[in-house]
Amino acid sequence: MPPSFWVVIPAAGVGSRMRADRPKQYLGLAGKTIIEHTLDCFLDHPDLNGIVVSLATRDPYWAGLRCASDARIHRADGGAERADSVLAGLRCLSQLGAKDEDWVLVHDAARPNLAREDLDNLFAQLVNDPVGGLLAVPARDTLKRAGPEGRVEETVDRSVIWQAFTPQMFRLGVLSDALVGALANGVAITDEASALEWAGQSPRLIEGRADNIKVTRPEDLEWLAQRWNTQ
Ligand code: CTP
Ligand code: MG
Repeated sequence: MPPSFWVVIPAAGVGSRMRADRPKQYLGLAGKTIIEHTLDCFLDHPDLNGIVVSLATRDPYWAGLRCASDARIHRADGGAERADSVLAGLRCLSQLGAKDEDWVLVHDAARPNLAREDLDNLFAQLVNDPVGGLLAVPARDTLKRAGPEGRVEETVDRSVIWQAFTPQMFRLGVLSDALVGALANGVAITDEASALEWAGQSPRLIEGRADNIKVTRPEDLEWLAQRWNTQ
């Protein structure tokens, strides 16, 4: 059997930092919603087994999208934190027949500009790795540690700092156990890698494109819209 992967898209957030009239994954970008572009990054991939999207329980937007009736996409009920939403997606995968050893790629719904070469490179680099890892980008700017009153306390060594992007790729069983354990212990988890780190593992950093941005603030969407309209 050639190696294949599952995808979990956590999409149960409210997008408070976007300050829009709806969760950011449902805002428009070049003729579609952001989440549709995100799903397009995976849907036609030959090594894809299936996708789970984790949605807010009373999400009124998803059902209106064409992809809601796509047989390759399954839905799970997301939770209060991103980690809860991811865990719900993983449980759904198990019910669909995914095995504990299967690779799962977790990717933010609000990250629609993932390049196919980054996805393929991530998978190729990690498919034989004992742990797994994530797309990431080395810090570019000089970094400052802030002290009280917004004044610089010190300059941080940039050479060892990376920004964690998604997809993050781990084996289903290992990732589920790490998330359950970290959540039960009240550990703050903002990405899958941090759950693995809590479990004593060292995920690999795979350098990706810096334009695989997560739409977080209004200017991010403006930037992507400008870029896509001029391509
Ligand atoms: N997410 C989720 N469940 C949550 C919180 C977040 O599935 N309880 C998802 C978001 O929908 C998003 C991804 O996790 O696709 C990354 O999170 P983030 O960028 O923080 O999105 P939001 O939490 O929606 O935004 P904000 O923090 O500004 O409110
Ligand atoms: Mg958030």
